[in-house]
This record gives sequence, structure tokens and C-alpha cells, in this order.
Amino acid sequence: MHKWSRRRAHLFLLISLFTIILLSTFLSNHNSKTIHSSTDHPPSFPTHTTTSNSSLFSPNQWLPGGPGWSRACSAPRSYRPRRDGAAAQRKWWKERSLDGNCDLFSGRWVYDERLYPLYNESECPWMSDQLACRKHGRPEEQYKHWRWQPHGCHLKRWNALEMLEKLRGKRLMFVGDSLNRGQWISMVCLLQSVIPADKKSMSPNAALTIFKMEEYNATVEFYWAPLLVESNSDDPVNHRLDDRIILPDKLLKHASQWENADILVFNSYLWWRSGPKIKLLWSREDLICEEADGLDAMTLAMETWANWVSSRADPRRQRVFFVTMSPTHLWSREWNPGSEGNCYQETTPINIEGYWGSGSDLDTMRMVDNVLNSLGSKATVINITQLSEYRKDGHPSIYRKFWETISPEQLSNPASYSDCIHWCLPGVPDVWNELLFNLL
Ligand SMILES: *[C@@H]1O[C@H](CO)[C@@H](O)[C@H](O)[C@H]1NC(C)=O
Ligand SMILES: *[C@@H]1O[C@H](CO)[C@@H](O)[C@H](O)[C@H]1NC(C)=O
Ligand SMILES: *[C@@H]1O[C@H](CO)[C@@H](O)[C@H](O)[C@H]1NC(C)=O
Ligand SMILES: *[C@@H]1O[C@H](CO)[C@@H](O)[C@H](O)[C@H]1NC(C)=O
Repeated sequence: MHKWSRRRAHLFLLISLFTIILLSTFLSNHNSKTIHSSTDHPPSFPTHTTTSNSSLFSPNQWLPGGPGWSRACSAPRSYRPRRDGAAAQRKWWKERSLDGNCDLFSGRWVYDERLYPLYNESECPWMSDQLACRKHGRPEEQYKHWRWQPHGCHLKRWNALEMLEKLRGKRLMFVGDSLNRGQWISMVCLLQSVIPADKKSMSPNAALTIFKMEEYNATVEFYWAPLLVESNSDDPVNHRLDDRIILPDKLLKHASQWENADILVFNSYLWWRSGPKIKLLWSREDLICEEADGLDAMTLAMETWANWVSSRADPRRQRVFFVTMSPTHLWSREWNPGSEGNCYQETTPINIEGYWGSGSDLDTMRMVDNVLNSLGSKATVINITQLSEYRKDGHPSIYRKFWETISPEQLSNPASYSDCIHWCLPGVPDVWNELLFNLL
């Protein structure tokens, strides 16, 4: 810690660098030791007409890390957004899918030791070591005791039995990245306590992981698809953030997994935010490879996703939710000018109404807003961004399991390896699920 005061500028740079590297490691190697890959099938690659080079289409080429991806994309050209107005062609709906006039997403955090947390970390058998902060030594427990209080109305309090009735005979599926997986684990922990041990089970970890509740003939599932469309990051274990290649117009392989779910909760954001440009592999005429910045690439993926929701989801049978970007707290100077840390050692929420950190990109929010608007009542937003922005205290920081080795140098400066991306459980994602409960 004594180094902290010396050579500040230098350190600042170093920490910036660290943070970027950390962001990549957290997002790409989470739980790598606990998840056993049983899903080495290749992505469903464009069935193709014009190219004569069939060696590229042997399935082995397209295994995660296989040579096909990078070979096909060795000399990308720059992507120029083609605003084809697919969103504009869909009907525009003005009103949002919120009940009445109350905006559930605008409010404040209230400290409530009596009613929160909603479950006990150590009593949830499926708690993740990435999120079990108390178990990994977090010294204080305030982060568990915050209740979300919307301005102007009350959130219906979480009730596991009522939620189970809503889920009876249904499949609830979370689809997305590790943040969405955190919300899924939260949901499992929220529900599992009222189910007898012999009436619940979890399938082995894979791209699709399923929690079954026998008496209700219901499941709560998680499907790994961090970029929504098909990509070389679709293996839940073997993926790298720094060489992302997506098939911007393909998601049928993913959709075949989720199309029969009754309630779908999607997210996607952080995987578009860091690292070098993202390569786009188009399947149109030939193998055309372009590269784009994260926002352009995410826009393409969201459009493809929205086309699926608009044309294939059945509004009479299915509910589709989209969870907005999960904020990060990588720079304490944003809420505490002059300081040089991150979320490490933060124990209280930010109480500046409307606080917005640099990690939550406004252009992305506008794009998501447009895409969701174009879907009207076919998709419902769970707008977690603002409420989670306040919770600089909600991240694991150093109180989680790290699968990679932490060097002595890092240990001497805990902020340098703090996870300020994911969220402790019990904690913030429980509230995201309370919002889902209120919207169902
Ligand atoms: C197929 O691709 C390989 C590797 O890119 C290349 O060496 C070969 O010439 C190609 N063959 C044809 C017929 O295009
Ligand atoms: C949570 O579980 C632990 C271990 O079973 C127990 O010691 C603790 O009292 C429990 N806390 C609550 C709030 O139920
Ligand atoms: C259980 O739920 C599935 C859908 O998830 C449904 O197809 C099936 O008929 C249900 N079985 C019973 C016994 O209700
Ligand atoms: C989410 O809420 C913010 C304000 O907190 C708003 O600016 C944004 O448009 C909302 N996004 C969506 C997709 O509803």
C-alpha cells in the first residue's frame, strides 16, 4: 500500500492497464475450473453456395479455437454501418411495457436489515464461488441489506411460492454472459429454499445448464451466448475476449436452444466493450470479413436478435425480457473526485441521484432503447442500469475465488485485482429478479 502514494501518475497508468487486462480475464475465464465443457460442437456455420474452398467448412475448423475462424478472418476490411432501417420497418410503439405510471427503475436504495437479504448465501447449494463474497472473506455485510424503493410506488415483495406458481409448467431461461449467469444463480437461490431437497436438481454445467423443480414441472435455465449471435466465444469455457469473431446475421443455433422457453431473459453488453475491434464474418456471397467497433457490432447483433423476437417469438405463449447494461465501478474518482481506487473497500451505495459512471455507455443505451421500442410489447426492458450504478459497494472486489494466480505484487495492492464487474450474492441481482417478478 505504501507504493500508492509514490509516482502517482505512473501507477495510474499501470492500474488502467491492469484494469483492461482484468476486464478481459474476468469476462473470459470465469469459473473456468468449475465448468466442465461438454459442448464441443462447432458453431452451425453458414451453409454456403459459392465458395469452392470446402476445407474451411470441415467442422473441426470451427471448434472453439480452431483454425477456421481466424483463417477466414485474417484480412478483415473495415465495416461501414449500413443503416437498412430494419428497426424502422417494424411498428413503432410509444408506450413502454410498464404498469401504470410508476417507473420501477427510478428510485433509491433503502437500508433494510429486517427484510434483506432474501436468502442465506451458505444455504444455497448452487452459489457460485465467483459471487459468494462472505465465504471469500468479505468482512462486512451491509451490501446484503439494501432494498430497492421506486419513487412513487412500491415493489411487490419477493415471494418464492408466488413466483413458483407463475413458473408452473414453464421454462424460464436466462440467455447471455456471466452477468446474466449471476442473475440466474440469484434466481435459483431465491427459489430453491422452498423446494425439498429431493424435488430439485441441477444439470451438469454446459452451454445450457438446467435447474429443475419437479413438483412444479418447471425449470430455470441458463444458456451461454455472450454476444447473442453465433460467435467463436460460444463455448462457456474456451473463449477469449481479445479475438472475437461473430456471425452478425446468425443465431439459429442459439435460437434452437431457447425457442421453446416460455420466459426468456436476455442480456448482452460488456463483451462488446473492451478489447480490439470485433470481426464480422458474413455468410452472404462468399466469406466476407469485416471489423467493427463494439457498438456497431452490438447493433448488428441486437438487430438480428430483434428480428428473431419479432418474427419467431410467440407473444401468446412467450415473454421476452432484455436486461440493460450492468454497470462497472472501475474508477473511484468518478464518484469520489481525487481518489485513485475502484470498488475495492466500498461499503455504501452512491447517493447522488442520477449518478452515471463512464462504464455505462449512453450510445449503447440509446441503441438498445431503439431496438426495444421497435419491438413494442413483444419485449420488456428490465432497466437495471441506473439502480445498479448506485451500488459501487455491490461487487466482489477481492472477496471471490480467483482461478488465476494472484502475484505478490498484486496482493500488495488489492485494488489491482479487484473484480468490480460482477455482483456479490445475496445482493444486487436479487433485486433485478424482484423486478422480473414484478413484471411477470
Ligand atoms: C483453400 O484455403 C486454403 C487456406 O486458406 C488455401 O491455401 C487454398 O489455396 C484454398 N483453396 C482453394 C481451392 O481456394
Ligand atoms: C445462514 O446460514 C449459516 C450457516 O448455516 C448460519 O450460521 C446463519 O445464522 C444463517 N443466517 C441467516 C440470516 O439465516
Ligand atoms: C411439463 O412442462 C412441459 C413444458 O415445459 C410440458 O410440455 C409438459 O406437458 C408438462 N408436463 C406436465 C405433466 O404438466
Ligand atoms: C433506462 O433508464 C435510463 C434512465 O435511468 C434511460 O435513460 C434509458 O433510456 C432506459 N433504457 C431503456 C432501454 O429503457
